[in-house]
Amino acid sequence: MTSRFWKNLKAPAFLLLASLFICFFPGVFSSGVVTLKSIQIFNTHEWFNAKPTVYFHCKGENKTILPDVKEAHVLYTFRGEESWQPLTELPDTKCKRCGLYEKDTLIADDVFDEWEFCSDDFMDPDGNYVRFKHKEFNATFFCPQCVHLKNSSDPASGSHGAKRGKRLNVLLVILISAIVATVSILGGGAYRYWQRRKREQDHARFLKLFEDGDDIEDEFGVEPVL
Ligand SMILES: *[C@@H]1O[C@H](CO)[C@@H](O)[C@H](O)[C@H]1NC(C)=O
Ligand SMILES: *[C@@H]1O[C@H](CO)[C@@H](O)[C@H](O)[C@H]1NC(C)=O
Repeated sequence: MTSRFWKNLKAPAFLLLASLFICFFPGVFSSGVVTLKSIQIFNTHEWFNAKPTVYFHCKGENKTILPDVKEAHVLYTFRGEESWQPLTELPDTKCKRCGLYEKDTLIADDVFDEWEFCSDDFMDPDGNYVRFKHKEFNATFFCPQCVHLKNSSDPASGSHGAKRGKRLNVLLVILISAIVATVSILGGGAYRYWQRRKREQDHARFLKLFEDGDDIEDEFGVEPVL
């Protein structure tokens, strides 16, 4: 029984290790998928009214061409499920250098804007982030997983504090699960042990009853019935 008992303890031990892992390597797990919800450009950098090729690009990743965006001052809206979506993924604790550009066949590509794109930017509870640059563009990005609700009781903590709080909550849940699992397994083992002890005691008492019965028969001189 004891070997199985220790084998059962492996699961909570694993949970405990996992929670420690989360504690020491934060940001490994969470990252939010960013899609483009709408865009409007105010300026095409092309000469002679040629149709622009607008693309979104984060450093070290592939360019995402926005195939429909061809006219200035037209609001293009997207469902987030287009073939070229999503644009990128933003990790919890690290920003990416991203931008909106226009392909140029002759010289270097034109830049609408380039900025540090962080999951912190998504402060709207609906997961929207509007980026507007005067005379260039107005784009709405969407990332519901990037939103971390602010801790209202501690306004100074900011979003980093909120994130840490969230991670601590996850940690707490895992720790509690581990403890509950351990306790239930220990409890189960103890209960089985107690049951066996009780059975043995009952058995012993039962046997003793028979012996006592013999004694009684002897005392009263009753002849055993054959
Ligand atoms: C980038 O594009 C190449 C070729 O089209 C593809 O093999 C690769 O998987 C892409 N990488 C990402 C991160 O999408
Ligand atoms: C940018 O677009 C968003 C969403 O379409 C809109 O709510 C916002 O008013 C626009 N901002 C400007 C300055 O045009």
